[in-house]
Amino acid sequence: MAIYPATTENIKKAAKILQTGNLVAMPTETVYGLAADALNPAAIKKIYALKKRPVTNPLIVHLHSAEQIEELTEANKQQIKTLERLKIFIPGALTVILPKSKKVPLDTTAGNQSIAIRIPSHPVAQELLKTVNLPLAAPSANLSTKVSPTSARHVLDEFGEDLFILDGGSSELGLESTVLSLLEDIPKILRPGIITLEMLQEVLGQVSFTTTTSTHSPGQMNLHYSPKTKLAFKKDISEITNLKTGYISFSKQENTSYVKHICLSENSDLQQVSAGLYAALREMDNAGLDLILVDDCEEKGIGKAIIDRLKRAIG
Ligand code: TXA
Ligand code: MG
Repeated sequence: MAIYPATTENIKKAAKILQTGNLVAMPTETVYGLAADALNPAAIKKIYALKKRPVTNPLIVHLHSAEQIEELTEANKQQIKTLERLKIFIPGALTVILPKSKKVPLDTTAGNQSIAIRIPSHPVAQELLKTVNLPLAAPSANLSTKVSPTSARHVLDEFGEDLFILDGGSSELGLESTVLSLLEDIPKILRPGIITLEMLQEVLGQVSFTTTTSTHSPGQMNLHYSPKTKLAFKKDISEITNLKTGYISFSKQENTSYVKHICLSENSDLQQVSAGLYAALREMDNAGLDLILVDDCEEKGIGKAIIDRLKRAIG
């Protein structure tokens, strides 16, 4: 097994593996996912076991088109109307929470009567979803609480040679999808992402945003996305003595004295920062450092998602 280029033949192979109740890692435009048949409880259990994911943390179900949402949900009129408006972001980096239909096993939703749904735009994910002709549950393809993978290589480093990994190149966006709950009257962001609060407000009017740890979105646990090496915001550390320190900057820096320096963007372009952040955290984590320092940015637009992930990574 291991890494396979996403040819039509290999996508067919991946579909076979999924249809027989086994796992495949698939590329998406956000991060790589660890996919299984969302309607097969035995396959779902394999995801939880391999990721060491708490069984209380529900999975996102991936579909190839918005037309398929109806079958898996029991949306009311208001929710259907909201969903219609959200279609400008679909396919894309948006996950919506709706009441689930009977068809969806509780194993997939961690016992919740709601379901998280996303239609990824990545062409390989699209082709796989169409070929397999099943809804695919897919959390990020990393061990629970660790940094999400944005390349096939990251997935291999995490889970080894036994897993069938479809290689679709580096994930273009680099941060997990925005999770938006439509269960309340006012749509609520449970996890910020590249589809920002501002973008959603423009389309839906009122949208709420909660930064508290929520039992409804257990993925929003306080410690998440974390490297093994100690991580801190650069602005919070005043003096570094005798520590092998790495630095992830969001803009060009002249002559830094750090053991390792990764510059994610020359000019604080937050799209570039998002795209490269997880790969940088992994690279720093493998560099035998004592401390990783990282820049911060304004908590606005994509900056909200970047700071959210970094705060959780710091713990
Ligand atoms: O970009 C992404 O969303 C990636 C790619 C692979 O699609 N997937 C991903 O999955 O990040 P995961 O499992 O790492 O994160 C899923 C998030 C968690 O925060 C989880 O708690 C939340 O979605 N979630 C899933 N089902 C939910 C539900 N029924 N109610 C509330 N939150 C839910
Ligand atoms: Mg995850």
